[in-house]
Amino acid sequence: MPSSSPEPIPLAHPEWDAAEAEALQRVLHSRRWSGGEELAAFEAEMAALTGSRGGVGVNSGTVGLQFALQALGIGPGDEVLTVSYTFIGTLNAILNAGATPVLVDIDPVTLNVDPAALAAAIGPRTRAILLVHLFGRPADLDAVLALARRHALRVVEDACEAPGARWRGRPVGGFGDAGVFGFYPNKPIAAGEGGMIVSDRADLLAACRRLRNQGTDPRDGSWQAEGAGYSARLSEWHAALGRVQLHRLEADLARRRTVAEAYRSALQGDDRIELPAPESAEASIAWFTFPIRLRGFDTAARDALIERLRGAGIGCAPYFRPAHTVPPLRARFAEVSLPVTDDVGARCIGLPLFAALRGDQVERVAKALVRALDGLARA
Ligand SMILES: Cc1ncc(COP(=O)(O)O)c(C=O)c1O
Repeated sequence: MPSSSPEPIPLAHPEWDAAEAEALQRVLHSRRWSGGEELAAFEAEMAALTGSRGGVGVNSGTVGLQFALQALGIGPGDEVLTVSYTFIGTLNAILNAGATPVLVDIDPVTLNVDPAALAAAIGPRTRAILLVHLFGRPADLDAVLALARRHALRVVEDACEAPGARWRGRPVGGFGDAGVFGFYPNKPIAAGEGGMIVSDRADLLAACRRLRNQGTDPRDGSWQAEGAGYSARLSEWHAALGRVQLHRLEADLARRRTVAEAYRSALQGDDRIELPAPESAEASIAWFTFPIRLRGFDTAARDALIERLRGAGIGCAPYFRPAHTVPPLRARFAEVSLPVTDDVGARCIGLPLFAALRGDQVERVAKALVRALDGLARA
């Protein structure tokens, strides 16, 4: 008898049920596959989630970040402060807007931007902060917003990984001049592809609507192109899926929190594994992955560990390789010094985390991780 290999555990796993199937049928029958009621409703619902005036759906989170910056008038000659410890889309958004990213180090506990380093990086050409809420953990909004006010800087929140995460009880994305979400299938709101810009500023929302649609906004009825234009609309299919997922968000975030707690109790006490900081009084987390760091191993050992886990059918990733170290950006940032980012980037692993992950699967990941660590040479 061939031995059956264990059920694979993916890093992320979008869920669906009859509600998604019904939503897609609804769009199919409407024959309105772009620019219809689903998009308008999804925009209004994402705005409501964040307490914002409105939303603009686009075809990716990266494009949403780019448009938010462009709508704020940020472009060539302007510097935007952000972190290197993020998904590369954060950096690409700034570069595609024609602006200059200036990279700032992170806090070793929260893994989000270090407010003191942010303050130190402000210069005469700084126009904005692109504030990432990494792995669903809110960045220190008190410190960052105070700094932005003091220096008249714009703030765009990269909340792509953090829908439903809260700072002092209020959902992230609604604090800055604009907030942006992403709907790739690994996200808590999974629509396949897509992004959403939310804002209180009517001018910004109107500018983003034009940018996504060849410089025109069908709402003004003129079809007259004004300014730069892209083709970056969010289809009715994506909007309909996103709406169903959004309706389930709170329940899913509670399940994600249970998974994070299960990892914590399975892994605590092992001095080779540094666990993510727990939630704080200010910050409640929309758990996106379970980001651990290894202690006492070099990066080659970390990478070997990831390969072993993958070989055992467990999805995991070096979340994140710092953006200043990836080949297309390495030369541009050769001079930057980001010691905390480099240290975390060399030791981090994202473990599977999604709402449907069962307790026995968490146990299996934890056991496989410990077993693989036992077989690795320490640095
Ligand atoms: C932190 C962060 N920023 C930006 C993005 C970009 O989103 P998208 O892949 O939809 O362009 C993502 C998601 O992939 C992300 O995780």
